[in-house]
Amino acid sequence: MQAFHLYLDSADLADLKTCLPHPAVHGITTNPTLLRRAGVTRDKLPELLHNAIKLGAKQVQAQVHAADTDGILADAQALVRQFNPGQLVIKIPATRDGLRAGAELSEAGTPVTYTAVYAPEQAHFAGQLGAAYAAPYLGRLEDSGVDGLALIGQMQSLLAGTSTRLLVASVRSRAAYLALLGLGVGSITIPPKLFTELFDHPATLDAERGFLADAAALGD
Ligand code: E4P
Repeated sequence: MQAFHLYLDSADLADLKTCLPHPAVHGITTNPTLLRRAGVTRDKLPELLHNAIKLGAKQVQAQVHAADTDGILADAQALVRQFNPGQLVIKIPATRDGLRAGAELSEAGTPVTYTAVYAPEQAHFAGQLGAAYAAPYLGRLEDSGVDGLALIGQMQSLLAGTSTRLLVASVRSRAAYLALLGLGVGSITIPPKLFTELFDHPATLDAERGFLADAAALGD
């Protein structure tokens, strides 16, 4: 069975620092929207990714900006040469041109995530073309009135027996996270605020406070 990969979905270094380093986190995922929100310009993207690696990220994911096959390949190659092999995953929207460019990158050994995956056949193409990940957006699927979990379950079945993991994004609650674990998805990317909810259980913190108080009362 594949090891589960947990990612942080953020381009905000201050937010990342509230969670990293942590051995349960495999890496970070970014996209142009997250970069814009965090005020990270395109020329500063490699620096952000290297900072995440210094904070313990084993893998960092960055999205191409171009939409045509040649432009996607040029974007990817400019980034790939700045990282050790396997450290950077190139995110590409699962378009016709995106799949074309991604197949070439995967063939050359660069890990690829097809992102904005909204349909089972797109996940199947990701598996067929040897992608490392296919990223469906759970919250956004549900916003559009679709049963996101059912659809993601279908994608998961289509990828069985391949080396492609689902990397579920747009995960907005602990309940959604747990439901995805129940489906057996290979990876999930979460916003830093959900990290707090998952890692700082109030009852555990409360119990710890009690133990600390009793330990202090015992003295040295
Ligand atoms: C994925 O790449 C997006 O960053 C993200 O997961 C979208 O989440 P949202 O739909 O909650 O904005």
